[in-house]
Amino acid sequence: MKIEAVHTHLLEHKLDTAFESASMRFDRRQHILVEIVCDDGTTGWGECLGPALLNDAVVEAYADRLIGRDPLATEVLWQDLYNLFRDQGQRGLAITGLSGIDVALWDIKGKHFDVPVSVLLGGRARERVQAYATGSFRRDGVNRIADNAEECAGHAAAGFHAVKIKIGFDPTEDLKVIEAVRKAIGSATRLMIDANHGYDVCEAVAVGNAAAQYAIDWFEEPVIPEQLGAYRAVRDGQPIPIAGGETWHGRFGFKEPLETRLIDIAQPDLCGTGGFTEMRRIADMASLHGVRLVPHVWGTGVQIAASLQFMAAQLPDPPRNNSIDPILEFDRTHNPFRQAILKSPIEHEDGWVTIPDGPGLGIEIDREALAEFAPRPD
Ligand code: NI
Ligand code: CA
Repeated sequence: MKIEAVHTHLLEHKLDTAFESASMRFDRRQHILVEIVCDDGTTGWGECLGPALLNDAVVEAYADRLIGRDPLATEVLWQDLYNLFRDQGQRGLAITGLSGIDVALWDIKGKHFDVPVSVLLGGRARERVQAYATGSFRRDGVNRIADNAEECAGHAAAGFHAVKIKIGFDPTEDLKVIEAVRKAIGSATRLMIDANHGYDVCEAVAVGNAAAQYAIDWFEEPVIPEQLGAYRAVRDGQPIPIAGGETWHGRFGFKEPLETRLIDIAQPDLCGTGGFTEMRRIADMASLHGVRLVPHVWGTGVQIAASLQFMAAQLPDPPRNNSIDPILEFDRTHNPFRQAILKSPIEHEDGWVTIPDGPGLGIEIDREALAEFAPRPD
């Protein structure tokens, strides 16, 4: 089997109401899929986290190197592609582009051996996972406090055992949001806060100390990801467990945060940190240092399916009766193509998501939906 072609598919939906995290503004949903086609007709699908048009250019730059190669040689290809841009590409787009390719190659490998990727990774430790609802961005033209509280009450009512809310805008208002959301979801629903690296250390320490009374499971990306010493100061200065890692790429990117335990919960993104090939290594490193791993997920059904395959194979750490299972980040913001591109959408039932057990990622792509959500001129 040889790789014959590498294609990308841009997907776009313009939003009626724009929304913001502390560090980004979304006036449209835009994602990119990678399709790798082999000479025997086997096709694999992947996805790249981050700016779709830039990822498109990176995938194209890698494509020549893949044509004619054996798609099953995932480690060989990973190292070869990484080395191609190593001198300028140790993190960022060079790795997010590579991630989409790696995920597609593993999809091909699973289809070739007629097993789910989770079986290739060592076997399925579970057939379903609990999902947590990610939402509560700041939407244009609404009262953020009331809007977030109402939204999160809806997630709790829909069966989600946990919700994650956006902070990092303004410490005073953020604390009002946390208080209102806790009141709206009640004490039984778990609550996480995500600052999207909007704070400096003083603000993050103050917010963490003030928010602790609301029973917060984790405090995500309190400060900018390059400032590892600042992470340390926040972790030492307040009591909520610290989560981070969606922008750290590859095993080299996770080395120091894990070895020095800057974080309590590592959140590598399968479609950003280097695909299955690198995610496995990061998971081993996290286990070595006693750091919990909960994958970051922000994408289409392709990324959700890939993350589920990985999570199916995540070993309980520590192994015990009634073990700590990974939980799936389930984006609840408006994105009509997220599930429409799958022939069988991956939805939750009372907060639980069943892990597909078909070959590869376990999904089939709806090509009509790819055409429907292809970008159109503004
Ligand atoms: Ni819409
Ligand atoms: Ca986040």
